[in-house]
Amino acid sequence: MTVSEPVSQDTQTPPPPAENEFVPPYPFRYATMPPVWKLLGMAKRNFLSIWGLDDFKSRLRSKKVFTRDLVVCNRPDVVREAFQTNHEVLQRKSPQMRHALEPLLGDGLFISDTEIWAKRRKIVAPIIHGSRVKGFAPIMVDTISEKRAEWEKLGEGAEVDALAEMAHLTAEIICRTIFGRQLGKNYAAEVVQGFSDYQRHIDQIDLQSLFGLPEWMPRFRGRSIKKSVNRILSVLDEIIDSYEAQKQKGEESVIGGLLEARDDDGKPLSRRAIRSEAAVIFMAGHETTANTLAWAWYLLSQSPKHREKLHAEIDSVLDGRTPTFADVKNLPFTKAVIEETLRLYPPVPILAREAMEHTSISGKAIPKGSLVMVVPWLMHRNPVLWSKPDVFEPQRFLDSKWKKPNKYGYVPFSIGPRICAGLQFGMTESILSLAILAQKFDLGLKDGTDVQPVARLTLRPGDNLPMVLRTRSS
Ligand code: HEM
Repeated sequence: MTVSEPVSQDTQTPPPPAENEFVPPYPFRYATMPPVWKLLGMAKRNFLSIWGLDDFKSRLRSKKVFTRDLVVCNRPDVVREAFQTNHEVLQRKSPQMRHALEPLLGDGLFISDTEIWAKRRKIVAPIIHGSRVKGFAPIMVDTISEKRAEWEKLGEGAEVDALAEMAHLTAEIICRTIFGRQLGKNYAAEVVQGFSDYQRHIDQIDLQSLFGLPEWMPRFRGRSIKKSVNRILSVLDEIIDSYEAQKQKGEESVIGGLLEARDDDGKPLSRRAIRSEAAVIFMAGHETTANTLAWAWYLLSQSPKHREKLHAEIDSVLDGRTPTFADVKNLPFTKAVIEETLRLYPPVPILAREAMEHTSISGKAIPKGSLVMVVPWLMHRNPVLWSKPDVFEPQRFLDSKWKKPNKYGYVPFSIGPRICAGLQFGMTESILSLAILAQKFDLGLKDGTDVQPVARLTLRPGDNLPMVLRTRSS
């Protein structure tokens, strides 16, 4: 359940936002929690609506839901213990996540664990590692510039769905980096369609696992899921065949890296593994970045002082020129806007793991099979860790006077050995997108639009985000 009136963090002393401060929307926070059956229904519609006031302030909480223990780690020390120190025992993704993505990703890195995960991580992470991002940046810049040219054609006052626009942009970028510029261009639309069909179907299934229902319970797998999986896999096969046929051209791409990769025994990846990992990178890297950018446009549209600051930085550093990779490090405020967006609206709002053995966190026993969760949505707004946690304030990432936690308290990319393998890729892509588009455009929220955060697989500003293009010079 969402309400449009933001509710304060603290029941005793609600801190009113100061003048000029923007508190973006969040769902109602209960002082007394409703019963579990009601929470289940609410979670199905929106995972963000099930947390009460105390959950935000907590350190380590546990609940029993049906057969399963649920543990939420909400402070840096316990997050570190869960995701870093206890990685061996807590590396398995939640059954919910595995069941939802397994039909498409197979044994792909994102949902695998133990030996397969370690093997794949060793192969895939270097291909998209920070040190490779410089090589991918020209593809990013060209694709973002194409989007800017499209918007220029639409012109002043045109209405766009900023969420769909950002999804299109990041899908093009990821397709062209995975498959190479030309193949990426040729197949992007088909790949995007296949993945969004798949997402539409899996959104509705297997929520029961998150709430502890046993593995043996039958899971609904509609024919439509199988159909969209087959469609995606056959497109991926076609792309790989085309790539192999023309690889002499020497273009840099992720798929090239996967085809050339060798494991410790000198063996190449199987065709199935290559397809799985290409699907993982598309799935992990596309919607997360799109949601980040859509939220950033929304937040900026509601905060004139930060918009002006962003424009001032972009104009003075770039002086009208299109940025390159080398400029990214000189755009600290643009980066801070992205970081603050990821704090307030982390695209992956819940990180859940299944305990593979009995273990403990901060002396608390965690039985085998428990679900251990780090919930960026909660921890990024924990008032013990952050000053004015609900206020949009990018400056907190630049200015030491703002209270903020250590790296285990800010985890939009997760933390520990399973940290996002595309962190630098996603940050660079987001900074370049904001800089290149905001050089020419200022996006205003369409009058009468009520924006509310909704999380199913990822955290989005609803199903669309209607905004109006304003050309900056006007
Ligand atoms: C702003 C953008 C992004 C955000 C917020 C983000 C966030 C995350 C998070 C939270 C995880 C861990 C999920 C979990 O533990 O359940 C993850 C994993 C991953 N991400 Fe990202 N991601 C972003 C962009 C990207 C991009 C652009 C790529 C690829 C180019 C990528 C590739 C991956 C991969 C391969 C994994 C799996 C790592 C593993 O399990 O070892 N991500 N990401």
